[in-house]
Amino acid sequence: MSAVKKIAVLTSGGDSQGMNAAVRAVVRGGLYRGLEVFAIQRGYQGLLNREIREMDLRSVGDIIQRGGTILQTARCKEFMTPEGQQKGADILREFGIDGLVVIGGDGSYQGALKLSKLGIKTMALPGTIDNDIPFTDYTIGFDTSVSIVVDAINKLRDTMTSHERASVVEVMGRHCGDIALHAGLASGAEAILVPEVPFDIKEIALHMKENFQNGKRHGIIVVAEGVCGGDEIARQITEHSGIEPRVTVLGHIQRGGSPTHNDRILASKLGDYAVQKLIEGDSGKALGIVKGEFQATDIETVCSTKKAFDIEMYELAKRLSQ
Ligand code: ADP
Ligand code: F6P
Repeated sequence: MSAVKKIAVLTSGGDSQGMNAAVRAVVRGGLYRGLEVFAIQRGYQGLLNREIREMDLRSVGDIIQRGGTILQTARCKEFMTPEGQQKGADILREFGIDGLVVIGGDGSYQGALKLSKLGIKTMALPGTIDNDIPFTDYTIGFDTSVSIVVDAINKLRDTMTSHERASVVEVMGRHCGDIALHAGLASGAEAILVPEVPFDIKEIALHMKENFQNGKRHGIIVVAEGVCGGDEIARQITEHSGIEPRVTVLGHIQRGGSPTHNDRILASKLGDYAVQKLIEGDSGKALGIVKGEFQATDIETVCSTKKAFDIEMYELAKRLSQ
């Protein structure tokens, strides 16, 4: 006996590649199990505006390979208020919806938690490129984003090597250096600057100068935006070494494009798992996969825990970047 009959899905906050694959999995996983499934357009804003429509199998055809989110996303101030949250829960009840899957980052998770406390069964899926959500090894979109950065650095390396130049590449990650770390290691960057680990820019600059003098033909520094802007890092490198790095800010390019197979698979597994958890009657949970195993953790715990930084990977990148 299912604890829910009608469920809905929405995407919220910053988008990420693989959100569509997650929406598809929720819709088809729900329909397969005999539920009625609805989609809410434009996140919590769309909920408050009653932008709700019923989905069928074909509604999510031809989207697994697409970036962005067909449900679109929004940031909604009204939903931050208790009145907005109550209105959202009332609207869901008006449509007979008793379960909701929210795909987004930690801000969106808070909204899901509030709805859960108001009696709507909710599941939250990690849809963000930043990989800043604990209790899951990876977030949906992270793998694609890292691939984009690696591809960009490959290209930069070609022209930097031709000119024997240095390059500073600024990547996304307001509070989390995972994109910088993974892309930096995978692309053989000389230095990786992340908010989680202090660094000595003078030492990095002088080491880069020494490398050039000893025959190295390029120098690539990856900096997470949470540290500071790429321009500032370049300025400090010049100040300490005289080297004049070129700066590339990858920006929102990192959030677009077709998701990798890893993101599609992660999204498909988590979307289907969310439906299963709702049917079982669970609520207020953030879902993830850790070492291949599904995890359902209280949203409160997830939101009050900082994701551990992989310092061993950071040290590895340092060792190999000489
Ligand atoms: P992300 O989900 O990517 O972290 P935001 O932090 O912008 O993005 O959050 C997305 C939306 O989630 C917000 O615009 C707001 O509608 C909702 N939200 C964020 N924080 C809360 C909160 N504390 N309570 C209720 N809703 C929230
Ligand atoms: O999705 C997370 C993130 O990509 C951050 O790394 C970045 O700072 C932010 O979103 C920028 O998003 P927006 O321009 O939509 O505010």
